[in-house]
Amino acid sequence: MSNQHDPIGIFDSGIGGLTVANAIHKLLPNEELIYFGDTAHLPYGDKSAIAIKSFAKGITDFLLDNKCKLIVIACNTASAHAYEAVKKQASGKAIVVNVIDPMANFVAKKYASKHIGIIGTKGTINSRVYVKKINKLSPAAKVSSLATPLLAPMIEEGFFNNLISKTIINSYLSKKHMEGIDALVLGCTHYPLIKKEVELYYKKKAEVIDSSELIAQVVKEQLSKKQLLNPRTTQPKNKFFVSDYTDAFEKSTRFFFENELHLKKNNIWKSETPTKKGSH
Ligand code: DGL
Repeated sequence: MSNQHDPIGIFDSGIGGLTVANAIHKLLPNEELIYFGDTAHLPYGDKSAIAIKSFAKGITDFLLDNKCKLIVIACNTASAHAYEAVKKQASGKAIVVNVIDPMANFVAKKYASKHIGIIGTKGTINSRVYVKKINKLSPAAKVSSLATPLLAPMIEEGFFNNLISKTIINSYLSKKHMEGIDALVLGCTHYPLIKKEVELYYKKKAEVIDSSELIAQVVKEQLSKKQLLNPRTTQPKNKFFVSDYTDAFEKSTRFFFENELHLKKNNIWKSETPTKKGSH
């Protein structure tokens, strides 16, 4: 049984989920966060669904061993491929929140009969999960999606707010079928880091929406519904783990969480190699 003092677990392939962790930390500063960046398997966007499920399973075991009361799959690709599996695995032990449903619900309502654009990894876009969920809620909405596979590795390498990122972003967003959209969903948790650049491209003609604050709200609601919000009045030390050490991860973690960085390398798979097991 979960306890109010148990931590919240958050995972992603790398630094992207830190945008979600940061929003949760701002809204619920007294909750302890355990973050896992699966940098050894990054990027998730071009891996098979079987591989992603296998990675997510290992991380979920790790977060459950650390007694997490709630797990946030802070990655769209893993949410698209592994949400049901993680929910099953955590059943009776932790609440599981994915990053797709809150966003799909939000845009389907706000842009019910408008033109919605979605960008994300190949895994997320090819799964058509956003299109299906939005159109189920709002059949009149026109949904256009585009895989933007260079963006997550580009961001992970620290390439943003420069000429390279501007050229790549503009080249993607100028695709014909994305013209005239009313809103653009940033369907990858890495993308809030380039939100300003994307907004510059649209010059206020389309609203650019990222999910971090929506997810933080859902986490708060879910914990409060189960009376699992932490009553403590002081801020705990958050913990950050990576499956492989990268400079980029440490730099970005410091960017979001400054003084409180305790980065640990943790190969949760030990001798097991999910890449071999999971991919074809
Ligand atoms: N941040 C992730 C997502 O939301 C994954 C990016 C990647 O590793 O390809 O999809």
